[in-house]
Amino acid sequence: MTQTENSDGYVIARTQSEYERLKIQAKVWQGLTERVLAAAGLEPGMSALDAGCGPGEVMRLMGRMVGPEGQVTGVDIDPEVGAYGVTRLREEEGRDFTFHAANLLDGGLVPGAPFDLVYCRFVLMHMADPVVMIRRLAELLKPGGTLVVMDYIMDTMRAAPDDPVLERGMQVLNETLVAGGRWIDAGLRLGEWFDAAGLPMPMGADMQGRYEVGSSNSMLAMAVKGFAPMGVELGVLGAEEAAALPGEIRAVLAKGKHCLHWPTVTAAWTRVGQGAPQ
Ligand SMILES: C[S@@+](CC[C@H](N)C(=O)[O-])C[C@H]1O[C@@H](n2cnc3c(N)ncnc32)[C@H](O)[C@@H]1O
Repeated sequence: MTQTENSDGYVIARTQSEYERLKIQAKVWQGLTERVLAAAGLEPGMSALDAGCGPGEVMRLMGRMVGPEGQVTGVDIDPEVGAYGVTRLREEEGRDFTFHAANLLDGGLVPGAPFDLVYCRFVLMHMADPVVMIRRLAELLKPGGTLVVMDYIMDTMRAAPDDPVLERGMQVLNETLVAGGRWIDAGLRLGEWFDAAGLPMPMGADMQGRYEVGSSNSMLAMAVKGFAPMGVELGVLGAEEAAALPGEIRAVLAKGKHCLHWPTVTAAWTRVGQGAPQ
């Protein structure tokens, strides 16, 4: 994986193991996501877009909530992740899902638009300019449609007891985002970015944390593995350390003596009056 392969500047490797990490991560935040989609008003018969859908686990939840009369579309810039997700979803859920491979920032047509609800999770933190993305998402809504965004506050991540390997893993994630010009406090800025995009301030908000008791299958090790190639490109760590660090993190956590505060996730939603920002 080189920076050239992620020509959009996305800092995470696009590999099968990263797609699996996204699926595991989706399970962690499933409860919050369902609660937020329900509170934001997703109902049977509606049309919904998952913007930056990855392997499509939120599309699965949306499909169950909108029922057979509703429609679910996913868009991702990575054609492989969407194809992988949608094929599996159709088989497992026994219903149709639409996947469209596109860079949302290009402003092209999205099949099924305009939507009743547009949802976007763990994408804004990866944008050079999240406000541009929010304006684009608002354009894809019907008048009165709802925009829902969710993101991490990465710099809330902590481990105890202190351990230099775990500290280094957390540092690599945050420094790679910063070096790539991305956001470690996206979850804190959701309202600020709505406002800057000309949208109403959030009409609803929610948040959730996660306390992870050390395990050999740590999200931290998986995330470091996904971020490390771009971290190497950006000079955050060397290739040798990138290869060794995920295993070292797993070895520390396998002792079963450490607990992690996984970064807090926030959610915010708002209704967009005219279907596009003013
Ligand atoms: C961290 S993943 C999150 C995936 C999914 N939303 C989830 O919560 O599991 C971010 C996703 O956004 C996609 N993405 C990044 N920039 C994009 C863009 N400009 N247009 C469409 N998709 C984009 C990436 O390819 C990746 O699949």
